[in-house]
Amino acid sequence: MTNLTFPDGFVWGTASAAHQVEGSNWNNDWWLWEHMPDGHCAEPSGDACDHLFRYPDDMAMLADLGFNAYRFSIEWARIEPEEGEFSTQWLDHYRRMIATCRESGLRPIVTFHHFTSPRWVHDDGSWENPAIVDRFARYCERAVEHLGDLIGTACTINEPNVVAIYGYRVGVFPPGRASTEARAKATDHFIAGHRRAFEALKAGPGDFPVGLTLSMADFQAVDGGEWRRDAYRQKMEDVYLESCRGDDFIGVQTYTRERIGPDGRLAPEEGVPTTLMGYEFWPEALEATIRRAWEVTEQVPVFVTENGIGTEDDASRIEYVGRALEGVHRCIEDGIEVTGYCYWSCLDNFEWLFGYRPTFGLVAVDRETQVRTLKPSASWIGAIAKANAVDLP
Ligand code: BGC
Repeated sequence: MTNLTFPDGFVWGTASAAHQVEGSNWNNDWWLWEHMPDGHCAEPSGDACDHLFRYPDDMAMLADLGFNAYRFSIEWARIEPEEGEFSTQWLDHYRRMIATCRESGLRPIVTFHHFTSPRWVHDDGSWENPAIVDRFARYCERAVEHLGDLIGTACTINEPNVVAIYGYRVGVFPPGRASTEARAKATDHFIAGHRRAFEALKAGPGDFPVGLTLSMADFQAVDGGEWRRDAYRQKMEDVYLESCRGDDFIGVQTYTRERIGPDGRLAPEEGVPTTLMGYEFWPEALEATIRRAWEVTEQVPVFVTENGIGTEDDASRIEYVGRALEGVHRCIEDGIEVTGYCYWSCLDNFEWLFGYRPTFGLVAVDRETQVRTLKPSASWIGAIAKANAVDLP
């Protein structure tokens, strides 16, 4: 056994997002999308995990397991249900939620935008309309005014690169656009929105690190695919990473590697097992992406805001996380500042297009009764968090 110890103050959490766990989140673009006859979702989100009402118990459970942080998002569509109309009732709800998180002994890591936008935003050009930048900044200003003194860490926008490609270029996420131009506009507005949100969150009450979270993959060139890999990665990652230079942290979110040949993305390599998402089982991707984020941002501290696996086999979850953490530790030994690790996800939850089928959770949720059942990996990662160290074979 090797014992790997992490630096003092290392943040250990699990992550979730409002739309995937709260339930009855009907005023945003995803709810619309889930209910469109020609939509792409396997099933609607419905009551999700009823986290809207069960968050105090869920947070207590995470603290008992040994975690010292919890990452979750606040829902813009509840806070600003119509343009310019802010709901004190919902701001109070999120204030109670953040306060409960602290009282449970968990650092609240709050995401301001995790994939979903209010319906009124959707109906007016969504992130393609330049007006979104002011709109998003205004929402962040109002929310931070109400919540800032309690926030532990803030993530402005979750994986804008994923929304830009799937919502605006491929068309399988809302708003269902499929144009290169639309993607380019959305990308520009996400980057401008992040910059404005960064300023707004820094100017508000409280004093906490602020950053963007990015979906990253270990992009590997195959058979002379270097130029294509670089072009793909430029749009998917570099343009965002470059815009985050000087930020407090960069949120790295990694699940797998991607192989790119001269003609484009390749299917999983023969012999490499795949997960419920169809991704290659490739935990070493985390190390590669941390190194890359650190390099391209010119040494912005890295926070692993998501890493995990959708699987029915909990033993393979443990293997995946163990190997991923070995990589995190090697990065730290090499002098890269990695400040924390959040496993995605605490609960089996609504996995967007795929509905409830892919199970990423450390905790299973009965879809009828909402009863939570801990998987062995929950106690295993919780113990690592408590010890701030991992024993690996
Ligand atoms: C997203 C999560 C999602 C997870 C697993 C990330 O892309 O931030 O919302 O559930 O990956 O697919």
